Order: sequence, then structure tokens, then C-alpha cells
Amino acid sequence: MSNYHIKNLEEYFQVYRKSVRDPKTFWDEIGQEHFIWHRKWDRVLSADFKSASVKWYEGAKLNITENCIDRHLRTKGNQTAIIFEPNDPNENAVHISYNELHERVCKFANVLKSQGIQKGDRVCIYLPMIPELAVAILACARIGAIHSVVFAGFSSTALSTRINDSECKIVITADGSYRGAKTIDLKSIVDDALEDCPSVKSVLVVQRINSKISMKVNRDQWLQPLLDIASPDCPPEIMDAEDPLFILYTSGSTGKPKGMVHTTAGYMVYTAFTFKNAFQYRDKDIYWCTADIGWITGHSYIVYGPLANGATTVLFEGVPSYPDFGRFWQIVDKHKVNQFYTAPTAIRALAKQNLAFAEKCDLSSLKVLGSVGEPINEEAWHWYNDNIGRNNSPIIDTWWQTETGGIMISPIPYVTPTKPTYATLPMPGVQPALMDDNGKELVGNQVEGRLCIKFPWPGMARTIWGNHDRYRETYFSAYENMYFTGDGALRDEVGYYRITGRVDDVIIVSGHNLGTAPIEDAVNEHPAVAESAIVGFPHDIKGSALYGFVSLKETGMGRDHENLKKEINQIITEHVGPIAKLDKIQFTSALPKTRSGKIMRRILRKIACNDVANLGDTSTLLNPEVVEEIKSNSL
Ligand code: PRX
Repeated sequence: MSNYHIKNLEEYFQVYRKSVRDPKTFWDEIGQEHFIWHRKWDRVLSADFKSASVKWYEGAKLNITENCIDRHLRTKGNQTAIIFEPNDPNENAVHISYNELHERVCKFANVLKSQGIQKGDRVCIYLPMIPELAVAILACARIGAIHSVVFAGFSSTALSTRINDSECKIVITADGSYRGAKTIDLKSIVDDALEDCPSVKSVLVVQRINSKISMKVNRDQWLQPLLDIASPDCPPEIMDAEDPLFILYTSGSTGKPKGMVHTTAGYMVYTAFTFKNAFQYRDKDIYWCTADIGWITGHSYIVYGPLANGATTVLFEGVPSYPDFGRFWQIVDKHKVNQFYTAPTAIRALAKQNLAFAEKCDLSSLKVLGSVGEPINEEAWHWYNDNIGRNNSPIIDTWWQTETGGIMISPIPYVTPTKPTYATLPMPGVQPALMDDNGKELVGNQVEGRLCIKFPWPGMARTIWGNHDRYRETYFSAYENMYFTGDGALRDEVGYYRITGRVDDVIIVSGHNLGTAPIEDAVNEHPAVAESAIVGFPHDIKGSALYGFVSLKETGMGRDHENLKKEINQIITEHVGPIAKLDKIQFTSALPKTRSGKIMRRILRKIACNDVANLGDTSTLLNPEVVEEIKSNSL
């Protein structure tokens, strides 16, 4: 029996029990399978949740790109590694074989070296969904540089904050990007960001949209001429198991974004293992994840997990609505996609369209449908199951986080019976716990509480870049000896988990994690704004949308409200990015506050959700009268 590929429910329970009884042996055995190690580990795990210190496969030496590329060359050199499907359906798809990927990664790695990039240096990648994005990531990993991919929808301020936090030496970007019918001028966003980034010495620019851009002398260079003269030979840098592989920023409930640090060996083993099992990937299957590589889903399940398995992974540049809402289904049909992985927000948007878009396409290649990023509501689940899976492809509702590196709770298709809106059972090696308000673990079934994980797993982030205290404080201080996820969950009568949503001030909008604090900070920058509070409210397509309660300074009172709203959203776009724009803005004379001066968000949340019948006790408020005003003017 191979632990690597679970085939039926009985085997799942066997493997799961073993993984809990003896996690070290379990992960030791998984690590022994398939991978290339230059040196095996001395110790499979050393961990202490108190100090938030976790090490997997300590002492091992490896390079992840050797495992994702070189390892397959002998048997799969000519097999397609990446299918690039461009934004415009009239532009040809590009098939990149493992041999070609190897050459492109080695050349790119040599270009990075020629720019003075060495092991341990941070490289910021701000690129659209084009092959160069995957190649750049792998090129960094080839030479041991730490990549920090910033989603190319983020604003220049968000980009510069991230570049400065990890002191990146170089930025890799493009002249621009295609997004449906629009183009986005990426290079000028980078130029703005770099006004304020002293660590950046050079910028490499990919030509994608052939627009006229300005190139700063002694800083900016086109990538292609450098690739043309680069050697295709680049031996992999041999890394320690715990050397950082990448930094990826995620929003927190407070303050600046957290640079989650993932390390090499544990992340590789975990993404490879979970990819294989969660998607039941078989040789020659075509796998497609629609996420952007700028998020963890793309890192783990477009690039590393699939390539570590020698899979064929589709990389799609465009959007689901261009040129029409049939685009996803046309791509499934065109490339005969077997495993399809997307987000509930996309499913809800597509479910609103004419069914003919899906019906016109041959979707019979589909074997597995994935969902990730937020809870999938019952209606969307059924639509996906009935119309896309045609009752023939199990839905895997995969719960996990940037911090967890890989899938934590998910059905295994054709193994775990699915249940709408349930992520079902933990992956082997994952030990969830539900905690009550008093910090006690809820045992048994039919309970609801805060979701924690009580034992380390190899894919977990090891720290927050430059701030280990914040890492310990955020994830390991709420409950003793537990990793706290920030999510609520329930366990049903058979032990299936259902994730109920965030229990902190993070709001998930269209599958994107948004902390309210940085958006409020942006709103408060407006000269007419006194203060603001942002909460989530249910939205048909986005899952949640943002509702801002804004109190104005006296100088702002007479201003035209519609204009003010536009200006506020413009500031948010500049500081955070367009994804954080407020759907509703309500101006109020004041915000409800406790006697200690804290904004009572609980009340605002209820008002935003139109749930005003039971606002709870408002008598402890400093200014209870304002609640009436806000209630009667609510949008
Ligand atoms: O609240 C959970 C939600 O997304 C959060 C993690 O967001 P992020 O770090 O951006 O990673 C998203 C992709 C892995 C979680 O804390 N979430 C993610 N997947 C699910 C989910 N909520 C419910 N069901 C899911 N399947």
C-alpha cells in the first residue's frame, strides 16, 4: 500500500489513524517517496507551539526545482508541464514541455544571477498570469533566492509596502497585462511604487502588451535580450530543508500585511502529497486551477504541487467573463480538463448566466471539481454539481489558508462521500480541534467552535518575515499548544467539518482576504473623514461585500455625498487596490462606541446585514442614540 495515493474510504481511515498515532513515521515515509534528496534528514520533526518553532526534515538537503522539473525529464521530458491559455481566445495556447520548462527556468535563473541575485536574496515578482510568472518563481527557487509574488491587482502603495517589508533587491514585472477587454499598465504602477523602495536595484520587464513604457536608466531592463544570451545550464543550489522558499503576504485583522514565510522541504512534501490525493491526479490528466499565482492557491496548486507530481497544469491569463461567460467551459472543452479547481465567487457569477454557455461545451472530461477560498453556499454547490459536474464529478470543498501552505480539510474524490457546504474530513496528518469560548476543546460530534490545529504539519508557514513575535502572537497565543486558524467551524454527527467563516476582522470578498484595518486607515486619509468602520454584509456573487460607516469632520459635512463616496473609493484603490472598494458607504454623525472608546462593530455588522431586530445590549454604549440614527439611515 502506498501512502501517497489513497484509494478508498477504509484506506483513508487507516492512513489517517496512522498519521495521528505516529505522525513522525507517517511523514517520514511520505518524504521517502519519489523525491530527490541530496541528503536525508536527521530528524523528521522538532516543534514547540509555545515559541512557535517548527522544523520538518531537519538536516535534509534538496532543491525543489529538481523535484518539480529535473526529476521528470527522463520519463516525461516531452510531456506538457504548462498549458498557457491566453486572455484572448484567438491567440494560440502555448504548450511548454518539461524539457522546455527546464531550459527556461535555467536561463531565467542565470539572468537573475547576472543581476547579482544570490541565495537568500528577496525577489519581488509582480506579473500577470503568463508563463514567465511560473518560470520566474522556479528560477528563484533554482538559485535559492526567496520569491515574494505580489498579486498584480494590488496598488502601488500595497506593492511598495510589501517590497520594503522584505527588502527585495529586484522586481520582475511586465509592460502591462490583459484583463478581459482591458489592459493594465503594470510598469507605471511599479514605477510609482519604486519611488519609495530603496532596496530595489534593478527591474526586469517582460514584454506582454507591447505598450510604450518608460524605462529608467541603470535600473530597468527588458528581460528577453538577457534571456537570449543566458546559458541554459544552471545547476540547482542545494538548500537546507528549512531554508525559506518564499514569502507571501496575507491580510491580518490589524495593521500591515503579514509576510508568511514558507520553507523548502516541508512545503514541497505537503503540496505534492495533498495535490495527489485531493485531486486524485493520474498520469496524463490535464489539471486546471483558475486562481491567480499571486495567491497561495496558485503557488501550491498551479505551480509546486502539480509540477512536483509531473502533472500538466493549465495557466489561464484571462477572466471568466471574456469574451463571454462561456470562457471557462470553452477552456475545459478545448484542453479536455480533468480536474478543475475554482472559487465559489466565480461559481456564483457563472451560475447567474445562461446555462447554454455550459451546455454548449463538452465537459465530459471532468473528473473532479474543486472549490476554495470561502464557504461555498448550498445553491452554488448544487449548481456546480448538477450543471458542471453533471452529477458525475465529485466536488471537493477544500479548506485551507495561506498560512497552512496546502489543503487541510477536504473530501478525497471517489473516496469521501460529499455533503454540500461541508469540507468534510481532514487530510492525513491534519488534526483539527474545535474550541469553545473558554478555551476548552469540544470533544465529540455535533459541536461548533473555533477551528484550531493541534499538531504541526509539514506545509505550515514557519514565521512572519521579520516579526516572529507577531507570528507567535497571532497563531499560537489564543489557545495553548494549538495553531488558531481565525475561522469558526462545526463538526456534524459523522465528524464532517463545515467552515462557518472568519471569527476575526478579516472579511473574505470574492475569495480575497481583506483585513478591515488597512482599509479603514485608507478611508481615514480622506481630509473630510473623521473616522470609519468597515464590516461585511452578504453579497450574491462576492460572498461578502464591504459596508463602510463613515463619520465626517465638520469641514466635510456640507460636501456632496456622491462625490465623497467616489473619492473614498479612489483612495482605497490607491492604498489597497480595487478589490477593497466599498459597496456601500453610509455617512453618520458618529460611530457607536463603548465607554472605553472602542467602536462597537458587532452592532454595525448587524445593521449592515439588515438584522436589526436583535441588536443586543446597547446600554453600555457611550452614545446609544447614534444607533437609532444609523439604523434609520441604513442602506
Ligand atoms: O476563512 C477561510 C477561507 O479563506 C481563509 C484563508 O484565506 P487565504 O489565506 O487567502 O487562502 C485562501 C486559499 C487557500 C480561511 O481562513 N477559506 C478558504 N477555503 C475555504 C474557506 N472557507 C470556507 N471553505 C473553504 N473551502
